[in-house]
Amino acid sequence: MSERHGSGHWLSEHELSEIRMLIEERTGICFDESRERFFSTRVREHLRVKGMERGADLLRSMRKSNVEYESLLERLLTQETSFFRYPAVFEAFERRVLPELHVKKFWKNPRTLRIWSAGCSTGEEPYSISITILDSLSFADSWNVEILATDVGRQALKHAEGGIYSGRSISSVSEKQLTNHFAPVNNGQQVKPRLRKMVSFAPMNLASPVYVGRMDLIFCMNVLIYFSEERRHAVVQRFYDTLEPGGYLFLGHSESISKMPVKFQAIVLNDCILYRKPTADELLKPELVAEGRA
Ligand SMILES: C[S@@+](CC[C@H](N)C(=O)[O-])C[C@H]1O[C@@H](n2cnc3c(N)ncnc32)[C@H](O)[C@@H]1O
Repeated sequence: MSERHGSGHWLSEHELSEIRMLIEERTGICFDESRERFFSTRVREHLRVKGMERGADLLRSMRKSNVEYESLLERLLTQETSFFRYPAVFEAFERRVLPELHVKKFWKNPRTLRIWSAGCSTGEEPYSISITILDSLSFADSWNVEILATDVGRQALKHAEGGIYSGRSISSVSEKQLTNHFAPVNNGQQVKPRLRKMVSFAPMNLASPVYVGRMDLIFCMNVLIYFSEERRHAVVQRFYDTLEPGGYLFLGHSESISKMPVKFQAIVLNDCILYRKPTADELLKPELVAEGRA
């Protein structure tokens, strides 16, 4: 039964559940019991803003048009992020991963580094990656660094392309980094062109596989927590297939893949876990991988 809500629209539990299933089917984002309230509040807000009277009308127009579907999706995305969100991750990236890649690729010509920030939100993560590279990779200018930053949220990507940040978002950026990599503008600090040239932003839904080429590193932090178990497995397997042997996957703090059947080598460093794809040789000698000597 549809229930007339205080703000004047009709929305039944069944319609809510249909909308929830549609979003999960298309994006992998799961609204379980803990996010039930957030979900229904946002759907009701959407109905009110769009001046729609019935949940059934919303469902119909979401099925018919991508515009309506994307407009509701934007309201349902959790896009919290900031520069250097987990300092331990960026420390591991700087101290362990970049030196390793430096040695591995030093004699390669061209010396290319391909990195994917999957679920980049408003861009703080990929720009933090490029700042770390510029500040710590020896001869950074002699590398051809390509950072692909993707997200399903188009508004967030627009913000990312503008590259203007302020407040809490940049509170972990040091004074020196602010001076070197940002220029003050009216409404905050804008990343400098050198940084922006390293990053390409593109809309991409992780639930619809798209070929992105081989990657040396993949950052997918605080995205998989919103996915169902099944979808999480599929995405992690795809990351494994996309990584070069010896490449690394960086996940968020609360995201563990230790129970998944993928063959990543988990490396525990201070306050974070890195997932490394073993090389073909290492896969033939599993004892090296298990002992973390690979
Ligand atoms: C909490 S933010 C994380 C941002 C950044 N990675 C970090 O850790 O600070 C999660 C991001 O994942 C994106 N996202 C959620 N589902 C997605 C999907 N199916 N495909 C691509 N991006 C998705 C959201 O739009 C959001 O920007």
